[in-house]
Amino acid sequence: MEKFNSSITYDRHLWEVDVQGSKAYSRGLEKAGLLTKAEVDQIHHGLDKVAEEWAQDTFKLNPNDEDIHTANERRLKELIGETAGKLHTGRSRNDQVVTDLRLWMRQNCWTLSALLWGLIRTMVDRAEAERDILFPGYTHLQRAQPIRWSHWILSHAVALTRDSERLLEVQKRINVLPLGSGAIAGNPLGVDRELLRAELNFGAITLNSMDATSERDFVAEFLFWASLCMTHLSRMAEDLILYSTKEFSFVQLSDAYSTGSSLMPQKKNPDSLELIRSKAGRVFGRCAGLLMTLKGLPSTYNKDLQEDKEAVFEVSDTMSAVLQVATGIISTLQIHPENMARALSPDMLATDLAYYLVRKGMPFRQAHEASGKAVFMAETKGVALNQLSLQELQTISPLFSGDVSHVWDYGHSVEQYAALGGTARSSVDWQISQVRALLRAQ
Ligand code: ARG
Repeated sequence: MEKFNSSITYDRHLWEVDVQGSKAYSRGLEKAGLLTKAEVDQIHHGLDKVAEEWAQDTFKLNPNDEDIHTANERRLKELIGETAGKLHTGRSRNDQVVTDLRLWMRQNCWTLSALLWGLIRTMVDRAEAERDILFPGYTHLQRAQPIRWSHWILSHAVALTRDSERLLEVQKRINVLPLGSGAIAGNPLGVDRELLRAELNFGAITLNSMDATSERDFVAEFLFWASLCMTHLSRMAEDLILYSTKEFSFVQLSDAYSTGSSLMPQKKNPDSLELIRSKAGRVFGRCAGLLMTLKGLPSTYNKDLQEDKEAVFEVSDTMSAVLQVATGIISTLQIHPENMARALSPDMLATDLAYYLVRKGMPFRQAHEASGKAVFMAETKGVALNQLSLQELQTISPLFSGDVSHVWDYGHSVEQYAALGGTARSSVDWQISQVRALLRAQ
């Protein structure tokens, strides 16, 4: 049972924030007249020693150290004696653990945010350097329209900018002080929670002690943030896995991010991308798992809540690794512009052919039908769309004339999509400048 009940194997990660929280709490007790200045100094001195032992990996756990809170207090007592027993006055592990977790997560959000922006920067740099390379855009995995390769990169980068935004919003709700809520009813000894808030630099104070000690919505939000971010990364990974097949040959992963096969000598497997795709499942599982744990709990603290931490630590580690690997993949990816160009085909310009007629005054529905007839005619004759003669096109519509030849130029095609957000160079440049402005604001 002791082993089953204990959380020290993982909540030891909280050692630093636990010390930080205790130091702040002792200030609160001092102001409430429950500790003298000398006692606070003694406690701080002892806690510094505890922290030093953790930092130097010399902290010796006892078999009955249930969690980081009991371990640190037990050690503090060994170091400074009975004064240590005053530290927990009016405090409960219920408000202590959630304070620690919020402190840890607040810090971790900064770390993940920096990694996420690093990835976005790498993607934008790449988009800028390669902004005029064209390749096929797909819908339903069927050839759709020619687009810029940079437009594809940016499509994923802009999704990640929203994940960054979301992370900051989650962090705002993490950054609220629960300390001073006790086990359930609050603090009866006059602890000034505003002082605790300021000591620990929280943005606000929780409003209700029952809610404060038992609510883990901020954890669920973080896990959902991670799930959504992983969805984005997994979809990008899936594209790149496909583009790196011999059949596409648009991109090649650097050796550092791929592996060989133990059996087939010719293989170069995109393991890094596949692992990113698969880690998404693990992260979703943690999010669903926590929600499941929370849904049937009666009011306030129940030991079920101890399970929140493994989810947070595991997902944070996963996100950190995934973001770093994704950055490495993107920055070392080799692309094959000639294969990308070769993969473009005139049928992908059928939409532009319809727009050609629209520009000559034909209603779009009719133009769509006329272009469809041209596609059918080319198919029937067994030629590419751009091989139809002007005479043949004119049997479909008299609006076709010599300038239809411009339609068959892929470079010309993409430049038409110049409305903001499109794949024209001016729009891609605009996208880059917008994302760069967000980067600068970080
Ligand atoms: N290790 C516990 C947790 O992680 C700390 C809180 C324990 N509180 C209690 N009343 N048993 O949730």
